[in-house]
Order: sequence, then structure tokens, then C-alpha cells
Amino acid sequence: MSNISEMLGSKYPIIQGPIGAINTPDLIAAISEAGGYGMLALGFMNDIEEVKRLILEVKKRTSKPFGANIMIINPLNEKIIPILAESGIKTVTTSVGFPGQIYPQLHANGIKGLHVVLSLKHAISAEQAGADGIVAAGSEAGGLRSTGSESSTMVLVPLIADNVKVPVVAAGGIADSRGYKAAFALGASGVQIGTRFMATHESGIHPEWKKQIVNCSDGETALLPVDNMMMRAIITPQLKERLNDPAFDIKKEFKLANANRAWNSADFSLVPAGAGQVSALIKEVKSVKEIIEEMVK
Ligand SMILES: Cc1cc2nc3c(=O)[nH]c(=O)nc-3n(C[C@H](O)[C@H](O)[C@H](O)COP(=O)(O)O)c2cc1C
Repeated sequence: MSNISEMLGSKYPIIQGPIGAINTPDLIAAISEAGGYGMLALGFMNDIEEVKRLILEVKKRTSKPFGANIMIINPLNEKIIPILAESGIKTVTTSVGFPGQIYPQLHANGIKGLHVVLSLKHAISAEQAGADGIVAAGSEAGGLRSTGSESSTMVLVPLIADNVKVPVVAAGGIADSRGYKAAFALGASGVQIGTRFMATHESGIHPEWKKQIVNCSDGETALLPVDNMMMRAIITPQLKERLNDPAFDIKKEFKLANANRAWNSADFSLVPAGAGQVSALIKEVKSVKEIIEEMVK
């Protein structure tokens, strides 16, 4: 099994899951300082100067390696990739889009990439397109999903590990040492963690969002339509009431374009609080260091 820490340059094979357009240099640096691999979320980035500023802010806080997530559909990637290379970023994750064009571009800039997939079919085509690794995100994960039926982490990770030669990173449902160890037993060479790192002191998400994650119980997240995709979100009693109202047209109400406004102001009536099923295991807001130390012990 390949060691993903070597590719990342981090002490532990733990990657921070990027969260939409929310970038918290404090969180990214804390994860890298604690031995993980902090990640800039550049998927929705439309401002090159902001990319440079964010990189500088992280570098002020840590000299340890960190990476970035780019969405293949972002037209600015051609400009973003050389900036990442100049700043010394060696490994990125790519998501949302066909990886055929971006991998030659990444490699020409000396950058390796792990492509985020939700199915075996896409893992195989990503490997053929030159991806250096795969992030296999099971259906319990937080974030955007397809509208199709998808496998859980427990099924997807071994399935992909059996069918590709590149290293596989497990994402979805990992919050503590049990999930961490399970990922390796399933054939993964690393983990990517979103929701658990959102509910940390260092995370820049709205305190109300952290509260919703901590208060979320078993069965209180669901996949909801947002534009032409699905997004796993926390179903609060208020949201449940709206969803049960026959006059409520979910497709008209929730728009990805409103996600930043909703999430920054905790106006979850606009777009609900995104989070994974693993929220049910998260009982308190902790520091990144505490989480990582507990995870790897
Ligand atoms: C609100 C939210 C937004 C996300 N945005 C992105 C994103 O922009 N790009 C991406 O590749 N993954 C995104 N993800 C997925 C995470 O990076 C990560 O893979 C996922 O949260 C892992 O599952 P977990 O939440 O169970 O840990 C997002 C997840 C959440 C909860």
C-alpha cells in the first residue's frame, strides 16, 4: 500500500476536506501544524489576488506543507495552478469535472493531484486520466453529491482500492480513531475529513453551524437537491417542517449561489447547514490538535 503522507509531505495521512468557499488560514495552519495536511478551498475561487493572499496568510502561521482543492470546472484554474506551484504546493485535490485536461497541466507545473470521486467508474477514469491518487467519498460524507444512487464509504473504499493502482484516500464518516483505523483496514492509504474539522475552535464557520453539527443526532442529515446536484445537510426541526409543507418548492428555494451568504450569516433558511452523517458522533467543539492526537493514537 502506498503511503500518502510521503506524497503530501505531512506527518500523518490526514487531509482536511475543503468546505465550499470557506477558507480559514487558522484552521488550515492548525491542521498542518498538528501533522495533517491543511487545504485551501479554491473550488469556487474567482479572484487571483485572493489566492495569493490566502497562501501568504497560511504561510505566516505555519512552515509545514499544505495543499489546495480545485474544482475542474473553475475557468480560473489555468491561472491558479502556476501560483500554487510557485508557492511550493506539491499536492492538490481536484473535484467536480472530468480530470482529462487538468492532470497534464498539474504535472507540467510539478504538482500531484488526488481526484475526488463518488463511484468506481469515475475512479477508474480518473486513474486513466493521470490522477496520482483517488479520494473516495462515500455517501455519508458532507458536501455535494450526484443525483444518482451512491455507495457508502465502507463499500466504496475497498471497491476502488481493488480496482486502481494509485493510492486511495477514504472520505466520509471519519471523526475519531475508530473511523481512522477502519479506513486503513478497508484498503485506504489516507483519510480526508470534513465535518469533524468544521466543529473545531480553529474553524471559521459560523458558531451556529458548529452548534448544529454538535446537536445533530443519528438520522438528522439528508441529501437535499441544490441546483442540479444533491447536498448532505442537517435537518433541523424547522427545516423538517418546511420540507413537509406541500407548498414548499425545494428546487426553487435552495441555490448554490446563495450558499456563501447563507453560511456566513447562519441564515440556514436560504441554504441549509451542510454536514456529514458523522455529525452524530461529534459531541463537542474541540481543538484540531486534540482531534488529530486522539485519531492517530
Ligand atoms: C459544507 C461542505 C462543503 C464542502 N465543499 C467541498 C468543496 O468545495 N470541494 C470538495 O472537494 N469537497 C467539499 N466538501 C467535502 C469535504 O471536503 C469532505 O470530503 C467531506 O466532508 C468528508 O466527509 P465527512 O464530512 O464525513 O468528513 C464539502 C463538505 C461540506 C460538509
